[in-house]
Amino acid sequence: MLILGIETSCDETSAAVVRDGVTVLSNVVSSASARYEALAGVIPEDAARRQIECVIPVIDTALREAKVTAADLHAIAVTSGPGLLGSLLVGTVTARMLSAAFRLPIVPVHHTLGHLSSVWPGNAAKPPLFPSLTLSVSGGHSDVWLRTSHTRGRLLGRTRDDAVGEAFDKGASMLGLPYPGGPAIAKVAETGRIDAYAFPVPLKGDDSLDFSFSGLKTALRYLLRDEKLTVPLAERALADVAASYQHALCSHLADRVELALARHPEIAEVHLVGGVSASTYLRSLLTQRIGDVPVRWPASFGYCTDNAAMIAAAGHFLLTERPEELGRKFETAATASLSGVVNDPEETAGSR
Ligand code: KG4
Ligand code: ZN
Repeated sequence: MLILGIETSCDETSAAVVRDGVTVLSNVVSSASARYEALAGVIPEDAARRQIECVIPVIDTALREAKVTAADLHAIAVTSGPGLLGSLLVGTVTARMLSAAFRLPIVPVHHTLGHLSSVWPGNAAKPPLFPSLTLSVSGGHSDVWLRTSHTRGRLLGRTRDDAVGEAFDKGASMLGLPYPGGPAIAKVAETGRIDAYAFPVPLKGDDSLDFSFSGLKTALRYLLRDEKLTVPLAERALADVAASYQHALCSHLADRVELALARHPEIAEVHLVGGVSASTYLRSLLTQRIGDVPVRWPASFGYCTDNAAMIAAAGHFLLTERPEELGRKFETAATASLSGVVNDPEETAGSR
């Protein structure tokens, strides 16, 4: 089954052609993030205007790179939410237009289900296993899922305040580093000491699998004030603060994964997905801390951050596990919960 994926939930415009959820024939991403480097985030209207201009050329390039035409496709999978409304509308209106013009059914995909599917593209030789513990970490969410299939599972824990990507982005802004903050902090942290500065352990004594990142962000602000560190920081201090802050954020994630594994010994693999899964520091910390259970992340960095290959993959899995999704009526929505989409009915009682 050949699916065209379209993803425009934030500042990027992406189109991909994916066969059977795993073989990526093309994955084109046009990102506007360079326009927002000097700011702490994206300007929504500006992002949507840019997406209107590039969505058709990006789709065209994806089809050409995949060496297919619209006639070869079986369906269009498009991100229907959550995200920036104007941006989402560019993708979904384009999908509706192509659907009418080429008589192709649409599969609406929840953006987070796309991230949850992102360890499959490019992994035809060794497909990931269930049940999996999926740590989904990006600029918009920090969730831990127990998944029994591609489209079934339950949420074990989630952030009570900021997402971890947001904590990277806001922390970078305090340190005078560009947006997006995760890669900027990782770069300067390379030469820093992870134990140079102490950060508090979030939700200490709380035995849920939830996360909290806003306290670490506040601790960073107080650290800069108390140590009298002002932007631009000296190279040594910047490296040490960035390394200690990155370690604190990633340790909180690893602590929760460790606890979840202790509670669910049936888990076959840990999957790390979302923009923050691009963090090589987080990858190695999890691998060290988890021991026997294999840890996997997307096959390429391009599948960690927002991309259409994961949306096409999720569309494929929705169609194979839930054929009724084909051509379902849907709304484009800035906020949308995934729990209602993937919850195992028999496991709902007692779950979050
Ligand atoms: O999934 P994504 O592209 O967009 C959302 O759906 O939010 O994630 C973007 C987030 C940003 O907060 C960015 O700082 C973070 O992913 N990120 C990283 C790294 N690369 C991107 N965080 C830590 N380390 C990285 N290498
Ligand atoms: Zn995302």
